[in-house]
Parts: sequence; C-alpha cells; structure tokens
Amino acid sequence: MDNRITIIPKPISVETGNKIINIRTKSVSICINTDSKADLYKTAATAFGVAGIKTSDKGISVFIELQPQDKKQEINEGYNLTLSDEEIRIKAESLNGIFYGCISAAQLISRADNELPELNITDQPIHSWRGFLLDTSRSFYSTAFIKKMLDACALHKLNIFHWHLTDDQGWRFEVPGYPRLTEIGSKRQDYTMPASEDGFYDEEKLIRRWYTDEEIKEIIRYAQERCIQIIPEVEFPGHSSALLAAYPEYGCTGGPYQVENRWGIFPDVLCLGNDNIFTIYEAALKKITELFPSDYIHIGGDECPHERWEICPKCQARMKTEGLDSAAQLQAWGTTKIASMVAKLGKVPIGWDEVLDNNKHNKLPDNVIVQSWRGTEGGIKAASLNHKVIMSPTQRFYLNLKNKDSFEEPGRLGVTTTKKTYTFSPAGKELKLENPEQRKLILGGECTLWTEKLPHSRNAEYLLFPRFCAAAETLWLPEEKKDFEDFKQRLEYHKKLLHQLDYRYYEGELE
Ligand code: ACM
Ligand code: ZN
Repeated sequence: MDNRITIIPKPISVETGNKIINIRTKSVSICINTDSKADLYKTAATAFGVAGIKTSDKGISVFIELQPQDKKQEINEGYNLTLSDEEIRIKAESLNGIFYGCISAAQLISRADNELPELNITDQPIHSWRGFLLDTSRSFYSTAFIKKMLDACALHKLNIFHWHLTDDQGWRFEVPGYPRLTEIGSKRQDYTMPASEDGFYDEEKLIRRWYTDEEIKEIIRYAQERCIQIIPEVEFPGHSSALLAAYPEYGCTGGPYQVENRWGIFPDVLCLGNDNIFTIYEAALKKITELFPSDYIHIGGDECPHERWEICPKCQARMKTEGLDSAAQLQAWGTTKIASMVAKLGKVPIGWDEVLDNNKHNKLPDNVIVQSWRGTEGGIKAASLNHKVIMSPTQRFYLNLKNKDSFEEPGRLGVTTTKKTYTFSPAGKELKLENPEQRKLILGGECTLWTEKLPHSRNAEYLLFPRFCAAAETLWLPEEKKDFEDFKQRLEYHKKLLHQLDYRYYEGELE
C-alpha cells in the first residue's frame, strides 16, 4: 500500500505515477461545464463539505464530468478519479458516482502532507445496499445527531439509512387521527430514572420525544443531498408496548400497558384478532408513504412472542376463520396482510428474518426483502425462496456489542471486534448457498446500532467507530480485495480525519 492513499472504503483500483503533485491548500475549486451545473455543483460541494474540505476560488481545481449512463437497470455508483498537474478530474455516470468520487478526493486531500503521487482511481461498489440502522426508539436522539450520522454514512459511501422509528420504548412520528401515539407513546412512564436515561432531551426543558413532520422532511432532504436513501421502519406485530400504552384496545388483554422502561422482549403484542389494528397501521403506513420518498418500508416482524394469542378469544377466532393451526402461523398471516398493504401503497416491504417463519398457509409475498439478523441462515433461506436479502448478522454487524471483552467497555449482548466486522462479507465464500445464482439476491448489508443504554450520542459514536468504517469497507469491496492489515494501517490516518470531524472512537484492540 502507498501510505499516502488511505481512503476508506478502499477503492477497487489505484494506479500511482512517479510524478509528485504538491497540494498547497486544503480547499477545492469546483469546475463544471454541463447543463446540470447547479445540481452537480451542490453534490460535489456537499461531498467535500462532509469531509471538512471547503470550496474556494483559490482551491485545488476539481473538474466534474457527469457522463451518459449506460442502459442499465441499476444506477452505476462507480467513478473515475485522476490527479495530475495539480488538478483533480472526476467522472461518473450518476450523481452518486460523482459524490463518491468527491468523497475520495476529499479524503485524499485531507490526508495529504502537502504532496501526493499522480493518481488514477477506478472504483465501484460490490453491493448496492450499503446501510446503517439507527434505533431512535430506545434512545431518542436530536436531529443534529441524526445529521451527523448521515454525514458519517456519506463519508464512508453508505447509501442507506435505516431509521428505526417505533419500539417498546417509544413511538417517534405523528400519525393523523392517532395523536396518543406520540403524546403518550413517545414517553416512558418511569421518571425516577435520571433524565438522560430516557433520551436526549432534558426533561425539564423539552418534553417532546418524537420527530415532527418538518424535522423528518429536513432529515430526508439532508440525506438526499448526501445520496442516502432513508428506509423507515414501523414494527409489527411485536415490540409494540408504546403503541399499546397509547391505544390499549389494540392488545389482547386490553391493558393497561406502559411505554417500556425495561429492555427486552415483552409478551403484550398487537391483537391480530382485532381488525382495527389494520386501520391504525394503514394510517401509519400512509403517513410514512407521504413523508418518505424511499421505495421501501421496513415492517419489523422480529421477536414477537405468541403467548397472548394462544389464549385470546379474538385471536383464536381469527385462527379458526383463517384455517391456521398455530399462533405462530397467525403472525405469518398478519405479516402477509401488512406486506400487501405496503405493496398497495406502492412500496416494497422489508422484514426481519422471522417473516419467513411458519409460513405454511400464507406464503410470504415474493417481493418482501428479508433482513437476516439471527446469523446468516435467514438470508440463505430467503435466497433459496427467491427473496432479495439484506445481511445484518448480529455477531458481525451489531455495533452495539462491546468492542472487546472487558467490564470497562460499554456495549452489551457480547463482543464483536473490528476484525470480526471487517472479515464478514455479505455474499462471501463463507455463505453456503444452494446455488451460486442465489448470490445475486444478496443486495448487501446494514450495520446496526441498537441503543439500549446509549442515551448519550457521544457513547453511541464510541461504539460505532471504527467498526462502522470496517463495515463500510466490507460493503464496498469485493471479498478478495479486502485486507485487514492494510485496513488497520489506513485506519491510523482515517482516525485523524474522524477526530477532526469530531467523531469519538474506540482506540483499543481491533482483533
Ligand atoms: C433485532 O435485533 N431484533 C432485529
Ligand atoms: Zn388477541
């Protein structure tokens, strides 16, 4: 490795020449000579800004060229970058490509100790789905922090932000006709806990614990400028204590229920014998559809106990009329209904891998994308059934696990080192698929941050970095191009950039 080129994620191909280019300034002057000037300029300037590089007339000249796209279905996120004679040229077929070219250029410039070799970089990601999930239910974060995380995604060329908006500990967006979802469902009841335990806002100063429509729109706009698609998630039918606290009639027992103060899996879930739950979900999903331009809606589906359904007369009656043999099959029935609702709204449903379970009578609609979190098995099974797949196996991609096995470290539910994250490839050789064609169904993956016990965003950052950087590289590079030793060396410089940009990171052992 040429240690002057420390881009993360590492580009696919870097050729260096003998000529040395002096980099005298850490600002850029963006030059564009096409019709779509304003868009391109903004995209390029935003990318440089994400990495802390300013635009100025006296900066290094960066020539941007958007080339006609080949007639392909998928957008080509690749780019070509050359550095010669004290100027940079970036060519790509899409705005994403231009953006990523500028991100690479920005990382090069910020790293450069006044000089760089002449360069020719050709780059393209291996996966089209490169994501990060942030749980804003367990801990409620400011919009400023969400934007900071979107900047982190952009800096690492991630194009998906999966926004976990509902869970037992809080419902975080408004639904017309159901004001209690936010007024009651966003607030934990136990105020004996320190205020900071309950989320970002200081109890005394501001009690709103949901995102307004305007805040959500602003975050979507911010993401779009960074070539990031936001995938909203609304949990169904488990992890629903917040909804039940607001509307107890939607539970099997009728409550009363509380927005949960505890962490875990709770027996009270939505009563699938009650038709009205589909009315409230229709309203919630319609609102999500109106707010979020994304092609996808995540419908949850994970960790739903069935014990209430076993004895609830309404659920039992539903099972009888639908010819279901077990309460577990009732979940599959409900998932199919919600997935069809999402499809009717013109969106593609995504579910956690439990959506594949107990589907004897209700075949999961073909277009449901399966997110594999209980290892990779759910993803393998989904691919064998011809579903598209997102990989998020807990032991490799859950960044809320500890960085190392120490009482002193934050994090929970086990340990995953940076190396463990780095060495996972979503569609790599270790994945035992029945048929190689199925590999194409693996869209990519998402690293996740579940935020139990993480009320302070600075601690969230500490858990994320540098594993977030490792995940980004593993989602970008083909498996055979990855090299952990090389990554570790580049990380030494990349950490300085993270520090400059005010991200906290873990500095202990990486393996
Ligand atoms: C999950 O971690 N329950 C998706
Ligand atoms: Zn019930």
